[in-house]
Amino acid sequence: MSGSIGRADCAARDATDPLARVRDRFVIPEGVIYLDGNSLGALPVQTAARVVAAVEAEWGQGLISSWTDAGWMEAPLRVGAKIARLIGAEENEVVVAESTSVCLFKLVSAALTMQPGRSVLLTEEENFHTDLYIAAAAARQCGASIRVVPRQALRDALDGDVAVQLLTHVDYRTGFMHDLAELSAAAHDVGALAVWDLSHSAGAVPLSVTPDGADMATGCGYKYLNGGPGAPAFMYVRSALHTEMRNPLPGWLGHAEPFAFERGYRPAAGMASMLSGTPPILQLAALEAGVDLWNEVSMTAARRKSIALTDLFIALVEDRCADAGFSLASPRDPTRRGSQVSLRHLQGYGIVRALVDRGVIGDFRALDICRFGFAPLYLRYVDVWDAVDRLRAVMHSGAHRDSRFAERAAVT
Ligand SMILES: Cc1ncc(COP(=O)(O)O)c(C=O)c1O
Repeated sequence: MSGSIGRADCAARDATDPLARVRDRFVIPEGVIYLDGNSLGALPVQTAARVVAAVEAEWGQGLISSWTDAGWMEAPLRVGAKIARLIGAEENEVVVAESTSVCLFKLVSAALTMQPGRSVLLTEEENFHTDLYIAAAAARQCGASIRVVPRQALRDALDGDVAVQLLTHVDYRTGFMHDLAELSAAAHDVGALAVWDLSHSAGAVPLSVTPDGADMATGCGYKYLNGGPGAPAFMYVRSALHTEMRNPLPGWLGHAEPFAFERGYRPAAGMASMLSGTPPILQLAALEAGVDLWNEVSMTAARRKSIALTDLFIALVEDRCADAGFSLASPRDPTRRGSQVSLRHLQGYGIVRALVDRGVIGDFRALDICRFGFAPLYLRYVDVWDAVDRLRAVMHSGAHRDSRFAERAAVT
């Protein structure tokens, strides 16, 4: 090995890491190096007890009175207010509701309806597929059309017809991070609303959505917020738009007085109006436990460590796997990168599967992306070293060419 970073150097960094002890707040299976927190965050230790309490005490004993006595009714706004602090919004600007896809539909539809006389929803080809499908459907329903352009053509495609610009802040494939403030301002310059998908940003990078000019946003609860599989997503709408926005799925829980059982719909004030049906209380309990971990950690410290971990991974791969045929798909500049590193390799699927066999869990995204997420709350510098060591062993042994990996599993 060239005069490079050794495992002992990494252990020394762990010894002085101010976030090192946060790892103890997570359940990490023995022998596993979990580099997939960008897909499904790890389980916080406190979550199981919170969910058991919600099941046994609140549901089991409190029964229906828990809607008021256990704060179930306020949970979507209460958890929303906690997420607001993490994404740099005002507490009254965020609510937790359904999946990201459904939240996106609601926001995009609401945004298009607020822009009479404009008929185009602008987005980029590189956007996550649910965003593209949902945006197209929402546009169709609102009598608008969708304009999908390559990333580098976004600026030129912003014109006076654009009602809404919908972008994912951190690219799920490569980790490329847009400049949220700059692109929101560009949308505003032509009179468009800026809607953001923050799925790979919330809990991963510092955000100031309100000061930076985002009009609306949504994001997953199960990635860096560690809310558990299928955790509900959040919706953010800047407060200046609250009186004008209309929920396209106006269910009874978004009504000003749900229990008045009025024949006609009257929206609640603010973000409560973006609710539709009964909130998923058990999943909200798990999400709240995950979000509460951030009470102990500053986003600035987490970002500092995330950059250090991703920089270290890139340096080690380029040093120790130099001849293995990888190319870096993520931006080298950490200010343009989320909390993941993606490597391109023609045999990427086999490589990811062979790594999983060796306890290093990342994932694969077609066509050729090996994707590794670095959640700074529970990863150590030695984990990065060990992961690259096992990657090197896979490449040297040819384990990734095993015939078992010729066929892709349903979830990659
Ligand atoms: C950018 C982005 N948006 C949305 C989603 C998924 O949304 P949903 O919670 O509806 O499955 C993902 C899932 O990985 C994603 O990466």
